[in-house]
Amino acid sequence: MHKINIAIDGPAGSGKSTVAKETAAHLSYLYIDTGAMYRSLTFRALQANISEQDEDSLLRLLTDMDITLKHGEKEAQVQVFVNGQLLGEEIRSQAVTGKVSEVSAHGKIREEMVARQQKIAEQKGVVLDGRDIGTFVLPGAELKIYLYASVDERTKRRHLENIANGRPSDILATREELQRRDHLDRERSIAPLKQAKDAVPIDTTDLTSEEVVARICRIAREKETEGS
Ligand code: CDP
Ligand code: CDP
Repeated sequence: MHKINIAIDGPAGSGKSTVAKETAAHLSYLYIDTGAMYRSLTFRALQANISEQDEDSLLRLLTDMDITLKHGEKEAQVQVFVNGQLLGEEIRSQAVTGKVSEVSAHGKIREEMVARQQKIAEQKGVVLDGRDIGTFVLPGAELKIYLYASVDERTKRRHLENIANGRPSDILATREELQRRDHLDRERSIAPLKQAKDAVPIDTTDLTSEEVVARICRIAREKETEGS
């Protein structure tokens, strides 16, 4: 079987991380959560009291961020270490979510992040999820997926996720934050969120994540066979 690369993009709560992780597990591919990379840098910036506007200081922080791969039982995932310490749930806090789109709008930051993501993807057999994967990080990916869902559904998902993880959550505030971030991600001048011309769009509003994974895996298997 000929391994391919899969790019999954879409707005917050469309199901990218869940679906990308499961797809990678099914295909025995490597999963790379690029949002976690931007979130980790934002977490570090908050810790170090560095402003989200201070591009050069952010770049210096990123330079000594250690991004490694962990080969788990089900799928291989990217992990981010800072000074030897593995970052986990702390990168999903409201404080990080509130600043991450500003941090990731800087050109020099994106350049460095994209270079790292492309290096990992060189080996093939990777599933990357984010905002600019099909358009900038892997424009040559054999399979590109664009996930979307209604704002109400995405708000409900994020709200339930917050509660399940013990994070405080107010449904109206969650909706506003999600829309604010969507707006910043879609309108920024460098690598904004948009559907690549050759991406397969999937409306996940009324689908389960299993149904979405099954659809992506079916197309991926066809592409693997085409290429071998
Ligand atoms: O999971 P959620 O949709 O909340 O966001 P995420 O994937 O963790 O990404 C967090 C933020 O990082 C996004 O809102 C973008 O501002 C930024 N991001 C980006 O600019 N490019 C990517 N490839 C991935 C994330
Ligand atoms: O990464 P992104 O922000 O696009 O979404 P996520 O972090 O994977 O969160 C999506 C949430 O909705 C998870 O709790 C999933 O279980 C759920 N979900 C989904 O991912 N896909 C569906 N088709 C339906 C629900």
